[in-house]
Amino acid sequence: MTAQERERAQEPAGTGRVALVTGASRGIGHAVAAALVARGDRVVITGRNEEALKDAVEALGADRALGVPGKAHDEAHQAAAVEAAMERFGRIDYLVNNAGTNPVFGPITDTDLGVARKVFETNVVSALGFAQRTWHAWQQEHGGAIVNITSVAGLAASPFVGAYGMSKAAMANLTLQLAHEMAPKVRVNSLAPAVVKTRFAAALYEGREAEAVASYPLGRLGVPEDVAGAAVFLLSDAAGWITGQTLVLDGGLFLNAGI
Ligand SMILES: NC(=O)c1ccc[n+]([C@@H]2O[C@H](COP(=O)([O-])OP(=O)(O)OC[C@H]3O[C@@H](n4cnc5c(N)ncnc54)[C@H](OP(=O)(O)O)[C@@H]3O)[C@@H](O)[C@H]2O)c1
Repeated sequence: MTAQERERAQEPAGTGRVALVTGASRGIGHAVAAALVARGDRVVITGRNEEALKDAVEALGADRALGVPGKAHDEAHQAAAVEAAMERFGRIDYLVNNAGTNPVFGPITDTDLGVARKVFETNVVSALGFAQRTWHAWQQEHGGAIVNITSVAGLAASPFVGAYGMSKAAMANLTLQLAHEMAPKVRVNSLAPAVVKTRFAAALYEGREAEAVASYPLGRLGVPEDVAGAAVFLLSDAAGWITGQTLVLDGGLFLNAGI
């Protein structure tokens, strides 16, 4: 048996497809990566904290997951993540732009413009950077799909997280631009969750979960697996005629918008 045949024989069975998921050492990104691995994909995950990323790779299985540490807005990191995926797995079928930030709570009339720029840099420009690189490295020629994690905060006025909402609305438009430009090779969609129980959103429900849940007709807040299920669908051939859409995952929250 040649070295190449031996390598192929050792390769675990699966879909053969590969996903790059940003911000996936915990929370929604990690749940998406875990669901993709569970169906047989291999994943490249990113995050800033190297130790946390290592633990996440171990949890996913080092044979199916690779971690590339770095900050989402750093172009050198974007390049390194895409290069590492191509080097280790030879393809990038799917991109999940999940890394996001919301460093400021308060009225938008007083939001520091430097902070607003940082929010855009991390949430919007980074997603464009990863999409450009994935496109040129693989998807332009071979096809694939992209999911951008936006938020219900980008679909309505959200007091105290205005800059974040602006960035998520921009990300939804980025989804449209990319979907139009990348068709027919690549489908691009967004998922817009309401409150999902993660470290990121803890301030919105910790210590007052019953009160927070009262606005949700389905009687609970979201969990990362709710988002993962929708992402796995959009990143599958079952969603083969869906592009440019934003799927709202809100436990019915927006049903309260009527009179
Ligand atoms: N939870 C919600 O209610 C909710 C609702 C709607 C939308 N979202 C969106 O969902 C996405 C994930 O949020 P989450 O709730 O899962 O948050 P989370 O539990 O805090 O996880 C965030 C993940 O992203 C990584 N990360 C954070 N900032 C990063 C950066 N600048 N560069 C690279 N990696 C970064 C974190 O690792 P490190 O800290 O080590 O970098 C971690 O792995 C975000 O885009 C958020 O806007 C969340």
